[in-house]
Amino acid sequence: MHVKHAGVVGAGTMGAAIAEVLALNGIEVVIKDLDAAQVERGLARVRQHVDDLVRFHAERAEKEVARIRELGVELTESQTTTIQHRLAPKVSRARGDEIVARVRGTTTWEPFAGVDFVVEAAFEKTDIKRGVFEALDAVLPEHAILGSNTSSLSITRLAKGLGHTPQILVTHFFNPPVTLPLVEVAGGVDTREDVITDTIEFLQGLRNHRYPMVPIRVQESPGFVVNRLLIPVMAEACFALQEGLASARDIDQAMKAGAGMPMGPFELADLVGLDVTLDVMDTLYREFEDPKYRAPPMLRRLVDAGHFGRKTGRGFYEYT
Ligand SMILES: NC(=O)c1ccc[n+]([C@@H]2O[C@H](COP(=O)([O-])OP(=O)(O)OC[C@H]3O[C@@H](n4cnc5c(N)ncnc54)[C@H](O)[C@@H]3O)[C@@H](O)[C@H]2O)c1
Repeated sequence: MHVKHAGVVGAGTMGAAIAEVLALNGIEVVIKDLDAAQVERGLARVRQHVDDLVRFHAERAEKEVARIRELGVELTESQTTTIQHRLAPKVSRARGDEIVARVRGTTTWEPFAGVDFVVEAAFEKTDIKRGVFEALDAVLPEHAILGSNTSSLSITRLAKGLGHTPQILVTHFFNPPVTLPLVEVAGGVDTREDVITDTIEFLQGLRNHRYPMVPIRVQESPGFVVNRLLIPVMAEACFALQEGLASARDIDQAMKAGAGMPMGPFELADLVGLDVTLDVMDTLYREFEDPKYRAPPMLRRLVDAGHFGRKTGRGFYEYT
């Protein structure tokens, strides 16, 4: 599988970051959303993230030298040079510009006629994803592989009866893919075996800003591994909050300080998006009929009110 040109559908939280990961690996990426404003928002996200990264790398050595001096340690010139050498920027301005230039936006399907691999990262709704699959099926070249970033929907159902059905599978990236390397890969009933193994091999050859990507093969099953385990934790945290067991901040603090989680369940839900979290919870509940996946009314109310977490400025926490 050779991917020179890739496409991403959906320029939201995941789509923009997946496009960035692909571009980072030298792949030309076209990213589509519903209208020009959404596309621009996605491209701006890529630019902003790359800018932050370039700045971080540029300032790293200087900050480390300053930090050591603040501790009262006098550094020799050669020690300072060694630090500057070790912490030399890995992402220069020029490299950052190259990454950004590889991602271009569109609101039409035509550019997808020239891609080898597409990731669909539209809303977690069956009818929307199916519409995207049908549109892509009509335009993609014969050899193209279509990976869906769905967190919980059945890829067999989404991909049924299309020309590209044997080349459609799940490539479930994690948020944010620029730093989290896991990708859960799952074929549907009609996905060709070589498509699954080639996709895993392709993903293994990529890296994000921190690590080589880590694709794992999973069976088609709602929530795969990570969400199946994580969603009940988020739901239970919400029920505990509703009952007044502790504040959101203290529950998050407890799971970080006591269970070693890098983020608390509410911080994570706000980052993922409460709308996305609720969609995944509802699908898991519908599919498994297990009450551990039932959605807490508090979460549903926040979503009804349009408070989706970080992306809208308010979720369990407020963001300015
Ligand atoms: N947010 C997460 O943490 C996370 C993690 C893993 C997987 N996912 C999955 O990734 C997918 C996207 O999630 P997200 O958080 O990026 O959502 P998001 O709401 O941030 O972005 C979705 C984007 O898709 C666009 N879109 C909708 N229909 C479209 C269409 N027909 N054509 C083109 N664009 C369209 C929307 O305008 C929006 O910009 C979902 O399937 C979700 O379950 C999300």
